[in-house]
Amino acid sequence: MRRQSIATIAGHIMFKPPQSADQFPDSVLTAAAHTDPYPYYAALLAYRPIYSEHRLDLWIALGAQAVTDVLSSTLCRVRPAAEPVPAALAGGPAGAIFKDLVRMNDGPRHAHMKAAVGACLAGFDPARLTALARRTATGLAHKLGTDPGGLDRFASALPVRVVAQMIGLPPEAAAQCATLTGDFVRCLSPLSGPAEIARSNEAASRLLDIVQDELRQSRHGSLAMQGDRLRSLGLEDREAIVANLIGFLSQSYEATAGLIGNALLALARDLALCRRAAGDDALLRRVIEEVARHDPPIHNTRRFVAEDGMVAGERMKAGDQILLVLAAANRDPVRHAGPHVFDPDRRDRGSFTFGAGRHACAGQAIATSIALAGIQALMAHGLDIAALAGPVEYRPSINSRIPLFGGAT
Ligand code: HEM
Repeated sequence: MRRQSIATIAGHIMFKPPQSADQFPDSVLTAAAHTDPYPYYAALLAYRPIYSEHRLDLWIALGAQAVTDVLSSTLCRVRPAAEPVPAALAGGPAGAIFKDLVRMNDGPRHAHMKAAVGACLAGFDPARLTALARRTATGLAHKLGTDPGGLDRFASALPVRVVAQMIGLPPEAAAQCATLTGDFVRCLSPLSGPAEIARSNEAASRLLDIVQDELRQSRHGSLAMQGDRLRSLGLEDREAIVANLIGFLSQSYEATAGLIGNALLALARDLALCRRAAGDDALLRRVIEEVARHDPPIHNTRRFVAEDGMVAGERMKAGDQILLVLAAANRDPVRHAGPHVFDPDRRDRGSFTFGAGRHACAGQAIATSIALAGIQALMAHGLDIAALAGPVEYRPSINSRIPLFGGAT
C-alpha cells in the first residue's frame, strides 16, 4: 500500500448536495455526512470486517473486533511517524497546540499526559457541571431567535462555554473562546484550504493569549488553579498544560454539538419517546447514550502503522493508514443483538463512539451531561422538536456527523 497523506485523500472527495437515503455514499470518506450511511456500512461490514481499499490507499476497519484490535495494537500510532504535526500547521500557532495535545501523542509521553488529563477531567464536580450546563443552556436558549440556524449556534456554543467555565475561564472569556474554538478546529479537517488554515492560526494565537493571560491570574476557581492541578498531576511542561487546556475546548466542540443535534433528531422522529423523556431525566440520558451508539457524532478515526507486522489479522506495512469506522462497529451484529434498532433500554450498549483502549475519550461523561442539560433547556424553552423531523443536511466532514438545522452554508 502506498503512503498517502490525508490532504491527498481529501483531494478525491467531493461534497455534493445531500444524497437521498436510498443512494449509497460515494465512499467511507463521505459517509459521515450522508443522509443515511448505515445500510452502506452494514453492506461493507458484511463484505469483510477489515479490508484494504485500494482506491483510497486505506485499510478500512468496520467490525467491532477489528476496531478493538487496531485500537489496542502496539504497531499503530495516532500520527504518521514522518509527520507528527500536519505539514500545513507546522511552525504556526495551531501547530504549536497540536504537537502537545494528549490526543496527538503516543508512547510514554502520551501515557504521562493521559494520566494527568484524565484525572483532571474526572475531577470535575458532576453537580457543578450540571448546574453550570443548565444555567448556560437556559441563557443560550433564550437567544435562539426564530431562524433555524439558531439551534446550530446553540449546539456549537454550549459545550465549549461550559467546559471553558469548568476549567476556570470567566463567562465573557468562555464566550469568546467558543467562537475562537470554532475557527481553531477548522485546521483539524483535511477539507480545509489555506484561507481556513490562516483563520485557524489566528484563532489559535488568540486562544493561546487568553489562556496564558488567565494562567497568570490567581483568583479562586481560576484557570491558574486548573493549571496547577495539571502540574500536580504530573504535567509539568507549561506549553503542554496550555495546549491541553485549549484541547479540552477543541475536543468538546464539534462532537458534543453533533450529539445534541442527533439526539434532537432521534426525539423528533419518535414523539411518544420525546414526550416520555421530557419528564424523565434518566430516560433522556439513556436516549442520549443510545444516540451516541446508533447515530454517533463521530463516525471514524485513524491509525498509522509504525512497523511492518500483523494488525487485526492482516499483514500491514509501516506507513499504512487505517480508517476505523466506529459508527459501523457500533452496529456490528456480532457484537449487538438487533444492532439497527434504536433502544434506549438496551443492556450492554458497548459503543465505540468515544474510542477505546489507550486513547479512549477522557470526556465521555462530561459530553453526555452537557447534551442532557442542553436538550432539557430546549424542551423547557418550548422548542418545537416535532418540527425537526424533516430531512436535514449535515456539515461537510470526513469524520463527524453534525446536523445543520439551518442548512449548510
Ligand atoms: C460527544 C462528544 C465526544 C465524542 C463523540 C468524543 C469522542 C472521542 C474519541 C473517539 C476519542 C479517541 C480518538 C482516537 O482514539 O482516535 C476522543 C479522545 C479524547 N476526548 Fe473526546 N469526545 C467527545 C467529547 C469530549 C469532551 C467534552 C472532552 C473534554 C472535555 C473530550 C476529551 C477528549 C480527550 C482529552 C481525548 C484524548 C484522549 C487520548 O488521546 O488519550 N472529549 N474523544
